[in-house]
Amino acid sequence: MLEGRTVLVGVCGGIALYKVPLLISRLREHGADVHVIMTEAATKFVSPLTFQTVSGNPVHTSLWAPPVRWNVEHVGLAERADLAVVAPATANILGKAAAGIADDFLSTTLLAVRGRVLYVPAMDLAMYAHPAVRRNVETLRSYGCEVLEPDIGRLASGLIGKGRYPETERILTACLRLLGPGDLAGRRVLVSAGPTREPFDPARYVSNPSTGRMGLALAAEANRRGARVTLVLGPTELEPPSEVAVVRVTTTAEMRRAVLEEAQACDIVVMAAAVADWRPAECAPSKTKKTAGDLTVRLTRTEDILAELGKDKGRKVLVGFAAETDDLRANALAKLEAKNLDLVVANRIGLEPDRGFAAKTNQVTLLGRDGLVEEVPLLPKPDVARVVFDRVVAILEGGESGGSSRARR
Ligand code: CTP
Repeated sequence: MLEGRTVLVGVCGGIALYKVPLLISRLREHGADVHVIMTEAATKFVSPLTFQTVSGNPVHTSLWAPPVRWNVEHVGLAERADLAVVAPATANILGKAAAGIADDFLSTTLLAVRGRVLYVPAMDLAMYAHPAVRRNVETLRSYGCEVLEPDIGRLASGLIGKGRYPETERILTACLRLLGPGDLAGRRVLVSAGPTREPFDPARYVSNPSTGRMGLALAAEANRRGARVTLVLGPTELEPPSEVAVVRVTTTAEMRRAVLEEAQACDIVVMAAAVADWRPAECAPSKTKKTAGDLTVRLTRTEDILAELGKDKGRKVLVGFAAETDDLRANALAKLEAKNLDLVVANRIGLEPDRGFAAKTNQVTLLGRDGLVEEVPLLPKPDVARVVFDRVVAILEGGESGGSSRARR
C-alpha cells in the first residue's frame, strides 16, 4: 500500500522510543522507504544502529555530521518525504516545532517538510496537560499537522493517566490515512460485519461461520481513504480497526436497529455482515435439558436489513454482498435488483478454503446497476476492499471506473 512512498520517522528522547522500531517495520511491510532522524537525546536511550537496521537506511543524528549524500541533507530528506512521523514526540519537539525553532537535524527538517506531518506525543500526564503543551499542540494543528492524542494508561512513572504512547497499529492507521488518496474525505460510511446469532436457549444459538474479516478490511479501507466510519459488528474474535466507531451487536434485531439508526447520517452503506436469515421462533429462558429424543426448533424469518435500506435509499450508495454456492451471477443480480443496490459484491462460498467465510483472501465479482461486471482475481481481503471502494468512489463521482477486467453483461 505504501510502495514508492517515503516516510521520515523523527525519534525523540522519550522512553517510548523503544517501541518505534516496530512502527518502522510495519511501515516497511507496507512497502514504504523509511528514513530515521534521531535527536541527540534519543541516541542516549538507543543506539542509531538499531534504527539503521530496522529502517535499512542510514540514520541522521546531527546537522554537522559528514553528509551521506551530496546535497543539503535535511532539505533533501524533507523534499522526498510524503509523510514525517515524530514518535515519540516530546514536549520539547512540540514546543520547538510550534515556535519554528530549528536548532538540530530533526527540528530543521520538520520546517522543510512538504508532505504531511504526524506527531505522536508521549509524556507524563501533568506535562501533557500543561497549558504550554496544549497550546503547542493546537498551534501545530493550525499549521495542518496531525497530532495523535496519547492513550490513557500506565505511564513510565507508574502513574496512570493520559500521555501513553499509542499502540503501533493506531499510529500505522493514522499514517495510512494521511498517505491515502483522501477520496472519501468528508464522507460518512457505515459498514456492517460479522455474523449475527439467534439464541434458542441461554446456551445455544443459530449462526454461520463468518468472522467479519472482509467487513473489517472494508472499514479500514474507508478510514484510509478519509471517511468517517461506523462499524456495526456482530460477534467476532477479530480486533476492529482503530479510529473507527464500533457498535457491537449480537442478534439480527440488534443489528437492524443499529444499522437503520446509523445509516441515516451516512453517504455510503456497505452490508458485509452475514446476517442470520432465520431465528428460533421461541427462546427458552433456561437451558433446555437433553432428552433421549431429537429436538425440533422452529425457525422464523428475520428482517432483511439491506432490503429495508433499499426501500428508502435516498442519495445513499448502497453496497450488498451475495454469498452464493450456485449460479453466482444470476443470484447476485437478483439481489441487486430486489434490494435496490448500487453495487453487489458476489462471492462463492463453501467450496475452496481460500475464499469466503473466515479466509484471509477472497475472490469476488462486482456487479453494478449500469450492467457492469468486474471479475476481481483472488486477493487478500484488504486488496478486495480497495477494489470495492474504487468502484464506490466511481459511483459517487457519477461514472464508472475503467478496468481491464471490466465487461458488459
Ligand atoms: N442481508 C441483510 N439482512 C438479512 C440477510 C441478508 O441485510 N436478513 C444482507 C447481507 O448483509 C448481504 C445481502 O443482504 O449484504 C445478501 O445476503 P445473502 O446472505 O447473500 O443473501 P440473502 O438475501 O440472505 O438471500 P439467500 O440467503 O437466499 O441467498
